Amino acid sequence: MTGEDIRSRAYDLLTAARERSLALTGCVGEDDLIKQHSRLMSPLVWDLAHVGSQEELWLLRAVGGQEPMRPEIDSLYDAFEHPRAERPRLPLLSPEESRRYIATVRERVVGLLERSPIEGDPLVENGFAFGMIVQHEQQHDETMLATHQLREGVPVLSAPPPAASSGWWPKEVLVPAGAFTMGTSTEPWALDNERPAHQVHVPAYWIDTVPVSNADYLAFMEAGGYERRELWSAGGWAHRQDAGLTGPRFWWREGGTWLRRRFGHVEPVPPDEPVVHVCWYEAEAYASWAGRRLPTEAEWEKAARHDPAAGRSRRYPWGDEEPGAAHANLGQRHLQAAPVGAYPAGASAYGVRQLIGDVWEWTSSDFRGYPGFAAFPYREYSEVFFGDEYKVLRGGSFATDPVACRGTFRNWDYPIRRQIFSGFRTARDAAPGEGV
Ligand SMILES: [Fe+2]
Repeated sequence: MTGEDIRSRAYDLLTAARERSLALTGCVGEDDLIKQHSRLMSPLVWDLAHVGSQEELWLLRAVGGQEPMRPEIDSLYDAFEHPRAERPRLPLLSPEESRRYIATVRERVVGLLERSPIEGDPLVENGFAFGMIVQHEQQHDETMLATHQLREGVPVLSAPPPAASSGWWPKEVLVPAGAFTMGTSTEPWALDNERPAHQVHVPAYWIDTVPVSNADYLAFMEAGGYERRELWSAGGWAHRQDAGLTGPRFWWREGGTWLRRRFGHVEPVPPDEPVVHVCWYEAEAYASWAGRRLPTEAEWEKAARHDPAAGRSRRYPWGDEEPGAAHANLGQRHLQAAPVGAYPAGASAYGVRQLIGDVWEWTSSDFRGYPGFAAFPYREYSEVFFGDEYKVLRGGSFATDPVACRGTFRNWDYPIRRQIFSGFRTARDAAPGEGV
C-alpha cells in the first residue's frame, strides 16, 4: 500500500467506526445513555467519550505531540483507574458534551492524518496508531452492542437476518499432526499479543466443522447437563451453583418452548443458530457431556489459518482477501449469528466453517504472551492480563467489525463472563494412527 492508500484507508475506517458509535448512542434517549444497564458494563456515554479520550491520547498527543485538550477529564476515562461498576458515579461529560469532545478530537485527527509521517517510528509505521485507534473504537462499538443486549425496554435496533446454511458438511474434520505458523510478524495493524509469528507443533486432532448450535446445547440441557456435577470442573460447578445457571443468558422457558430476548425482541430460540451468551465453564461442561473438549488456541488457529497445500498460514480461513459479505457474518450487518453451516465460501483449507464472525469461540487456553512477546505500545493493552485468570476467545462475532478481526486476533475474558457474544465449538484428540 502506498502512503496515500494507508491515509485513505485510515480515514474511511475512522469515519465508519464513528458512524457506528453515533448510531449506537443516537438510537436511545439521554437517560439510557447515562444509566448503567448492568454492573458489567459502562454507561454508554462513558464508552462514547472514552473512544475520543484514547484517540486524543494516542493520536493527538503521542503521534502529534499536541497538548492535552481537557487534562481534567483524562482520569475519568482511564479504564484502569475506574472499574466499570463505578463509572456511573463519576462526573462524566454529558451526552452532548461527549459528542462535542469526540468531534473536536476527530477534526484534529483528520488534520494530523494528512501530515503525520506513517513510517519510521514503529508507532506510525504503516499507519499503526491510526489502525489501533480504529480497532479500539470498533471494540467499544461491540461492547456498546453488548450493553444494548442488556438494556431493558422496547427494541431500538433491527437488522435483516443473515444468510441461511448451505450444502452438506461433515460433523468434524481431522487436522493431521504437524507444525504451523501461529501469530504474525507481518500483519501491519496486528496488536502486540498477536505477535510474533512462531512455529507450533500440534498433534493430530478432530474439530467441529461448525459451532455448537442451540439444538445441540438444548440436548445437553435436557440430558440434565446443569444438574450433573461430574460434567463440570470444580470451578465451573462452584460458579454454576453461585450464579444459579440453568441455561444460556437471556433464555427462559414458557410452557414447552425456550424463548430468548435479543435486543429487546422476544422470540423462540432458533435451533440451528450457534449457541451464544454462554460462559467458558458452560462450554467446558457441554464438551465433557459430548465426550469431547474445547480446542486449544493453537488448534483453533491451525484449523483456521493453516494451508497444508501451500505450507503457510493464511490471514483469514478463506485466504488473504479482506472479509466480504460471502465470507463471514461480521460488522453488525445482522444482529444475530447465522445458522450453523452458513458461509461455505468462508471455510478454511480444512473445510471448517464460521471460524470468523457469528460468535466468539471459547478455547481451552489461558491468555499468555507468545514466545518473543514485546508489549507495544503500552503494557495495559494486553500484558497486564496475561496469566491464568483469563481464557482466550477467537474469531470475532456478528458484532465485531472486520477491521478488528483476523485469523490471528485474540480476545480474552473471565471464564464466568457471558454478556459477550460468546459460543464455542468442540474438539477431540485423534486416535493413535489417525492423522500422522
Ligand atoms: Fe478502551
